[in-house]
Amino acid sequence: MASLPRTLPASWYCSSPLYQLERKAVFLKGWYLLGPVTKFQLGEKVGYEVAQVSLVACRMSEELRDIKVFDENTGSEFKSYITETGLVFSTISDNAPSFDDFFPDLKPLIGRVDFTKLPYRRSVKYEGKFNWKTMVDGYQECLHCQYTHPSFSVYYPPTFYTVYNHKNFSQHVADPKKADDGLFLYFFPNCTLNVYGGGMSSFRVCPTDKPGITRMEFDYYHQSSGEKFEEYFKFVRQVAMEDFELCEKAQENLEKGVYSEGILNPEKETGVAYYQQRVLELVCAQHETEKEPEPRNAYGYSSRNDVVASQLVDPASS
Ligand SMILES: [Fe+2]
Repeated sequence: MASLPRTLPASWYCSSPLYQLERKAVFLKGWYLLGPVTKFQLGEKVGYEVAQVSLVACRMSEELRDIKVFDENTGSEFKSYITETGLVFSTISDNAPSFDDFFPDLKPLIGRVDFTKLPYRRSVKYEGKFNWKTMVDGYQECLHCQYTHPSFSVYYPPTFYTVYNHKNFSQHVADPKKADDGLFLYFFPNCTLNVYGGGMSSFRVCPTDKPGITRMEFDYYHQSSGEKFEEYFKFVRQVAMEDFELCEKAQENLEKGVYSEGILNPEKETGVAYYQQRVLELVCAQHETEKEPEPRNAYGYSSRNDVVASQLVDPASS
């Protein structure tokens, strides 16, 4: 039997040094969905904070797509990208690759929806007592949907729920026979886009410098501003609060030190396995580059090489 995918260890959800590695390995090298172009009005600065980097996005002219993103502290411009259908993405450091290298096969998928047609309505943000990965774990699978989200499951029954993983993003399909029914996307590491129920929401799972505290930021978009929007808002907020409670409970257990790690369902949790594996690879690579160089002696040998070298010395010559 092929080996089953394993979860990240519980300690990775509770450790500050680990978060500092994640920050450099994952966050400073990532791309972030800021929203559709409709979120940015001329003369208005929209602020964000991702992994302790503060950025400001501004529309520079009447032209809808003339949007730039700046580092709030230095004023320098960050690399940003606007898709053909109107989604604005940004980096938070110069360490990120190009947009096309980061998301090589995203364009066909988001080309299906015209994101400029849904006006921005409202944002909500608050902190929760959980690690950023605790929330992403929940988003990336739907095994919890049936019992945690009874109202959502009526519209999107979890029976056929499938997650398709691509490079640095995942698509969630509630029913593969109705592929146009809702668009649910996860962008590695911490952004989502959810088009369903007549509106659209996107949220960012923002890590604070405390591994057990995360700031959730939601943006809501809808064609109408009145009762229809409020109805949609009530529905999607209900789902968000159900997830919030679940995450706080899961984090409590992660912090108790009883659970260390487990296996993942190889069919129903491929989304979790995919993104956790990315985190693992990137963090391990970062750790490798940060290892203290071994002390070298006057001959340029490291101590480990000395051991090897001492075994190679011809006893007759000494
Ligand atoms: Fe959920």
